[in-house]
Amino acid sequence: MSNKKELRIGLIGCGFMGRTHSNGYRRVPNFFPALQYTPVLQAVCARNEAKARAFADQWGYASVETDWKKLIARDDIDAVDICTPNDTHAEIAIAAAEAGKMVLCEKPLARTLAESQEMVDAVEKAGVANTVWYNYRRIPAVTLAKKIIESGKLGQIYHYRANFLQDWTINANLPQGGEGLWRMDASVAGSGVTGDLLAHCIDTAMWLNGSIKDVSAVTETFVKERMHQLTGKVEKVGIDDACVFHCHFENGSLGLFESTRYARGHKALYTFEINGANASIRWDLHDLNRLEFFDNSDESTLRGWRSIHVTDGEQPYMDKWWVPGLGIGYEHSFIHQVADFLQSLETGGPCKPTFKEALETQKVCEAVLESASSKSWKDTGVNVCIK
Ligand SMILES: NC(=O)c1ccc[n+]([C@@H]2O[C@H](COP(=O)([O-])OP(=O)(O)OC[C@H]3O[C@@H](n4cnc5c(N)ncnc54)[C@H](O)[C@@H]3O)[C@@H](O)[C@H]2O)c1
Repeated sequence: MSNKKELRIGLIGCGFMGRTHSNGYRRVPNFFPALQYTPVLQAVCARNEAKARAFADQWGYASVETDWKKLIARDDIDAVDICTPNDTHAEIAIAAAEAGKMVLCEKPLARTLAESQEMVDAVEKAGVANTVWYNYRRIPAVTLAKKIIESGKLGQIYHYRANFLQDWTINANLPQGGEGLWRMDASVAGSGVTGDLLAHCIDTAMWLNGSIKDVSAVTETFVKERMHQLTGKVEKVGIDDACVFHCHFENGSLGLFESTRYARGHKALYTFEINGANASIRWDLHDLNRLEFFDNSDESTLRGWRSIHVTDGEQPYMDKWWVPGLGIGYEHSFIHQVADFLQSLETGGPCKPTFKEALETQKVCEAVLESASSKSWKDTGVNVCIK
């Protein structure tokens, strides 16, 4: 008989992230067999019962709910996983924490800093385990970048540069709001590319390079009005279609960030580059198993950018997968976050980023939007170092 401890999951939201998380829960026992905890797919919640049942059948959930409040009220659920649009995160997370459940919440933490702060207060008051799915930290090449920076190989860091580029909203006839297009509706999403895409870049940046002190931003909404799917009326578009900002990091380096959904040809191009006095690093989501590294101390005739294929067992997470030379994918970042969450339950430590740490990313997002609307520099107020 297994002596594993069960972690009974209640998942809310059966869309894109519902699938990545469910895959994570299912794969972890196979690839991280030493963990004491094993996830049990106890219940899944969608408002439409047929959809919930189909999802439960596909992924192996034992039961379904159509009201997330009922899921939270159940005493056979240990952890609530929030995979719903941003306008629901605060209400669900706060209710789950008050019910004594662990909470795993998708990013961004919430629509606004104020909502996010309430969520932090709720999980801290309840003393429940919590984490936010900033999954890019757990792509092995990105985790390796963190280790290289911590080793001091880059020396003093001067520049941090990140882009997150897409092109799916260029068509002016694309409606806004409702199922599938909630990201276009500011009242649901909170913001456009800033909260959706730059939040990822900011989380990775502060994890790798420390706090962002202040920001100066420009945003643009290229298509000003779109048909709203729920009201059937043409309504003003409230989201930022594109955002560029520059900033100072606490360590003295300069940051430059750009995100748009109007970069024709780019579907999800997340890239970052970090330039230090001695070495530089760059990474590209489209080639996620590779980390590029330039070391100025290399012999001059051989010096150049090397492309590290991060698939060796000595590299982060890769001892859990295949044999050296064989790559893994996007979905593995979520499997790794599940594994790290289960590990944190064993050790009693945090599974980073916690709500409190993800709040720091919200502070930067809020400062970016305020800077753009006031056309001035804004202090971020970031005070927790999330490195
Ligand atoms: N970590 C990442 O890289 C990443 C990637 C994509 C999305 N996200 C985040 O994940 C969250 C979900 O995004 P998505 O792409 O999966 O969206 P999605 O539209 O694919 O799925 C959301 C699902 O939630 C359901 N839903 C809405 N309100 C609900 C409610 N009250 N009760 C139950 N179900 C409800 C919808 O019907 C839909 O099935 C968002 O916060 C988003 O920002 C994170």
